[in-house]
Amino acid sequence: MSLFTYASEESISAGESTFRTVGGYGCIACHGLYGQGGGNVGGNIRGSSLNDLKYSLEHEQTMKLLGDVLSEQDKINLADYMEYLGTFQLVDWMYEGIKGGLLSVSIDSGKNSQLVVLNKTFEPMLIDLSPLSGKHLTLRVDPYETQHFEWLPEKGVYELSFGDEAISINVK
Ligand code: HEC
Repeated sequence: MSLFTYASEESISAGESTFRTVGGYGCIACHGLYGQGGGNVGGNIRGSSLNDLKYSLEHEQTMKLLGDVLSEQDKINLADYMEYLGTFQLVDWMYEGIKGGLLSVSIDSGKNSQLVVLNKTFEPMLIDLSPLSGKHLTLRVDPYETQHFEWLPEKGVYELSFGDEAISINVK
């Protein structure tokens, strides 16, 4: 056996499904659909380990209830999913329709990245992703929905905008 075992796709996708459904509301209720936080009480847990999870299931008042319904295998799968999310650089855009809102983020080139957009308004968002993808691509995010887009960034400054807000992504 090798010293390091890599999470299988099955384990990651089983973890993702538990992350969205456990207890009826899922981990997503407090940690966001992609573990990014999304302004919820639990915050960002991308890249968290099995030990982090076990510790919080025992000590975090709001998570204790879930401890009983998760098998050891469920916890391993959840940890694999959180670690998988942690392999992406996160560009987190929580859209609240703030006038003149400009968000700036800095990431490294050549590393897998994930844009996560949470639409906290009542109008659907249509975001032109061509600056990131190099081809015509629109991301639709319905009211109170979260959507994502993965890409491998190259050096440069990229701006995405919708309505009253813009996000400037500085790739170093
Ligand atoms: C009812 C809300 C709630 C739910 C549901 C919930 N959590 Fe949490 N979680 C929290 C809070 C609150 C914290 C503590 C955050 C802090 O201290 O900043 C936390 C902490 C954590 C941590 C520790 C983060 C760290 O910094 O080490 C992990 C890992 C975690 N949660 C994973 C999960 C997973 C996986 C699930 C689903 C099985 C889940 N949580 C469900 C509220 C929740």
